[in-house]
Amino acid sequence: MSLQKSDKKISIPTLLRMKENREPIAMLTAYDTLMAGILDQSGIDIILVGDSGGMVMAGHENTLAVTMDEMLHYVKSVRRAVKHALLVADMPFLSYQISTEEAIRNAGRFLQEGGAEAVKIEGGQPVLPIIERLVQFGIPVMGHLGLTPQSIHQLGGYLVQGKNSQAAERLKHEAQLLQEAGVFSIVLEKVPSILAKEISEQLKIPTIGIGAGKYCDGQVLVSHDMLGLYEKFKPKFVRRYAELGKAMGKAFEQYISDVKQRNFPSDDESY
Ligand code: KIV
Repeated sequence: MSLQKSDKKISIPTLLRMKENREPIAMLTAYDTLMAGILDQSGIDIILVGDSGGMVMAGHENTLAVTMDEMLHYVKSVRRAVKHALLVADMPFLSYQISTEEAIRNAGRFLQEGGAEAVKIEGGQPVLPIIERLVQFGIPVMGHLGLTPQSIHQLGGYLVQGKNSQAAERLKHEAQLLQEAGVFSIVLEKVPSILAKEISEQLKIPTIGIGAGKYCDGQVLVSHDMLGLYEKFKPKFVRRYAELGKAMGKAFEQYISDVKQRNFPSDDESY
């Protein structure tokens, strides 16, 4: 089956319509112009400038070290290449927790300076007042529940969330509250497939799963994971669509060998 790439710009109403029509939503991450351009031309629906950039681009152990300035740099780079997809910027740790004023300022910077069309915020109950304010001011928000990597120390590791019935009920309730607060979509990370199904069926807005099984309204992966570029660890939910890290290693080794053996450049590659 060949998929028709749409020339139409993806907007938030488009995503809500896709949920209504049961049309799966494809989302991936990008942090630079080159990758974002290839993704956009491939027909991706949503590009997330994730704070995962702190790990796959900047080499941090987790996402906690990522700052607003770093994120803005990534968002601006991605913006220059994106014409079709909805561009979502991830609010980094401490950019929205301190006060609603700071959250508005930082989310506003992503839209005003970075050209993002929406922001993503991790968490449930504690972030509801912030989300309500952002939405009131016309800043679209994507929620993020389940495994929330900015709480990694509290969660005790990258563990599956919502496994027992109490935790599952809490997640369902928080998803409902996020929808009522005005988010246009929710990322569900590392939750049992059956729980993600129940949440997806209960909501009018689309769920985007990562390690949350096949019943979500859409799926997201970190591009560097699915391309085999980030090889530090590979969660079970990652499907590798390419082995670019290995291909790059081979190309670099070949270049080094050619230089050392005076096989590069040839006369054709010289002036
Ligand atoms: O930072 C990120 O890339 C994310 C996705 C994994 C959803 O939050």
